[in-house]
Amino acid sequence: MPTSQHVYTQQTQFWSTERAYVLGDIARAAGHRLFAAQPGEVVLDAGCGAGLETIKLARTGARACGCDLSHEMIDAARNKSLQEKQDISFDVANIAEHLPYADAVFDGIFCNAVLIHDSPDECQRFIAEAARVMSKGGRLLISVMHPYLYQEGSPNRLNQASWAQYTPLEANPDLTQSCQFQEIYRNSAGKEFVSDVWYHPEPMFRAMMLQNGFCPVHEQNLCVTPEALSLANASGPYGYPAFYQIMATKL
Ligand SMILES: C[S@@+](CC[C@H](N)C(=O)[O-])C[C@H]1O[C@@H](n2cnc3c(N)ncnc32)[C@H](O)[C@@H]1O
Repeated sequence: MPTSQHVYTQQTQFWSTERAYVLGDIARAAGHRLFAAQPGEVVLDAGCGAGLETIKLARTGARACGCDLSHEMIDAARNKSLQEKQDISFDVANIAEHLPYADAVFDGIFCNAVLIHDSPDECQRFIAEAARVMSKGGRLLISVMHPYLYQEGSPNRLNQASWAQYTPLEANPDLTQSCQFQEIYRNSAGKEFVSDVWYHPEPMFRAMMLQNGFCPVHEQNLCVTPEALSLANASGPYGYPAFYQIMATKL
C-alpha cells in the first residue's frame, strides 16, 4: 500500500481546489506540453487525484480516463468533471497492483506526482501494468520531485520557511538509491500537510521502463526561482531544480 494515503483521504477538499497547486504548477503545465494529448487519443491519468489534470487532458479532445486509490478523490473528480461538462470515466484502482483496463487500450499514460508515494516494487508493478495497457507507440510520462530537493544543503533540507521540507527517515541517505523522507508540505495559505514520501533516482525509472518494453525518449528538469523554494506559491521559470519528467514510448 502506498505511503501516506491518509493525506488524500482526509484532505480531499484541499486537493480539489486550484489552491493545491503551489509549486507543482510548473510540473503539471510542462508535463502537459511534453505529453501533448491529441484529439481522439485514449489517455489515462494514473493517480489522478481530484481529476483536475484529467479534465485538462479531456479538454484537448482526447478521451480521458482517470484512476486513483482514494475513493474520496475519485468522488471529487467525478463531481468536478460533471461541473465542467467533461465526459471522463474515473475508477478507484491501485495503479501498483492492477489497472482495471484491457490490454493495449491507451495511447498515453500521464502520471504526475504520484510515484513519490510508492515503493520501488510498487513503481515496478505500475510500469509493468502501464506496458500491458499501452498500445504500441504509446507514451508514458512520469513526473516526480527532483533529487536536488532532497540533498543535504538544499533549502528544503534546512529548517527554514519553505514550501516543502524533507527530513530523511534513515541516517545519511544515499540518493543513488530509493529512500524515504518525511515531507512537510505547505499550501499557499500556509496550512501544513505531513506525509512520508519516496525519493526515487531517475536511473531506476529508466531501467524499469527499458525492462518493460518502453524506450525513454525525452527527459527534462523543471526549475524554480530561489524565492519559490522559500515562499509558497511563488514559482517561476529558473533557478533550482524542482521536478524531473521522463517520457518513454512503448516499443
Ligand atoms: C500529489 S497527488 C497528485 C494528483 C494528480 N496526479 C495531480 O497531479 O494533481 C498524488 C495522488 O496519487 C495517488 N496515488 C498514489 N499512489 C497510488 C497508487 N499506487 N494507486 C493509485 N493512486 C495512487 C494518491 O491517492 C493521490 O491522489
